Amino acid sequence: MNKIDLDSHLSESLAAIEAARDLESLKTLDTELLGKNSATTSAKKNLGQLDPEERKVEGKRINEIRDQIQKKILGRKLVLAEEENSLQLENERLDLTELDLGHRLGHRHVITQTWERLEDLFVGMGYTVAEGPEIEDEWHNFGALNFPLSHPARDMYDTLYVDYGEPQSTLLRTHTSPVQMRVMESQEPPIYSIMPGRVFRSDTADATHMPVFHQIEALVVDRGITFADLAGTLDAFTSAYFGKDFVTRLRPSYFPFTEPSAEFDIRRPDGTWLELAGCGMVHPNVLKAGGLDPEEWSGFAFGFGLDRLALMRHGIDDLRELFRNDHRFLSQF
Ligand code: PHE
Repeated sequence: MNKIDLDSHLSESLAAIEAARDLESLKTLDTELLGKNSATTSAKKNLGQLDPEERKVEGKRINEIRDQIQKKILGRKLVLAEEENSLQLENERLDLTELDLGHRLGHRHVITQTWERLEDLFVGMGYTVAEGPEIEDEWHNFGALNFPLSHPARDMYDTLYVDYGEPQSTLLRTHTSPVQMRVMESQEPPIYSIMPGRVFRSDTADATHMPVFHQIEALVVDRGITFADLAGTLDAFTSAYFGKDFVTRLRPSYFPFTEPSAEFDIRRPDGTWLELAGCGMVHPNVLKAGGLDPEEWSGFAFGFGLDRLALMRHGIDDLRELFRNDHRFLSQF
């Protein structure tokens, strides 16, 4: 290729690069203009036919041209990448005017609604609402609840430990039951309290599990409380929350902090049973750990998952949807 040809090759190349509309065609151009079949590559191959002086000048010239082509491709690449990026953003943009937000009020998250509904219901039954810390010590989460150290029952919970203090001394509470202890420590009976809150377990997220979820705990401590009070309270709660056509049952179970312990199920109008809560009579060791005399006081406790209630109530079949924070999904509830 002679000097004139190279010059026009350069200007044609630069124009072609400028005209490339997307990264894909730019890539094709890159191969065409700089690859092994490109004009400049074959010009280089022909350098051998020139005399040494000419070869030097011509070689330098070819390299400069390749440089310029390369720079132009790079510059164009940045521009196109930027364009494609903003095009993508534009495509994924939510048109908020379509949602007519100007005329619509926000509302509470479906979990918060469930939480508040439960609070209202129990407050209506004379209960107070208590809270405890999400980062707990081993004593409140396990020890005081009658889980002896290294007792296998501790493995019922996939505990997330916090790197603080002695190994395994600090954790993210695995259930709301430690708040039972906190309530007993801070007030005298009679106690009629519920304790809603966030709890943590090292579970992998799937349709029915999240590593962070919500429970609500209830604790009653008074004189002469019996298992019949527990059953009656669960019954009253069920018909108030779900409706009169829901039936309850208790099945024997095991928890270290209640004795006897039970699982509490409800029967839906379609005849299917749903396991809802763990419950039982507060274990004497737990009353003692809370500074109470089990000869004088007795009580019951129950605890259940709040998220599941929300799913059931709204016919949602994947728990993860609640936490994706997609406005279009959440605004339905
Ligand atoms: N804390 C128990 C759990 O998370 C539930 C429970 C609460 C059981 C109160 C009995 C009494 O599985």
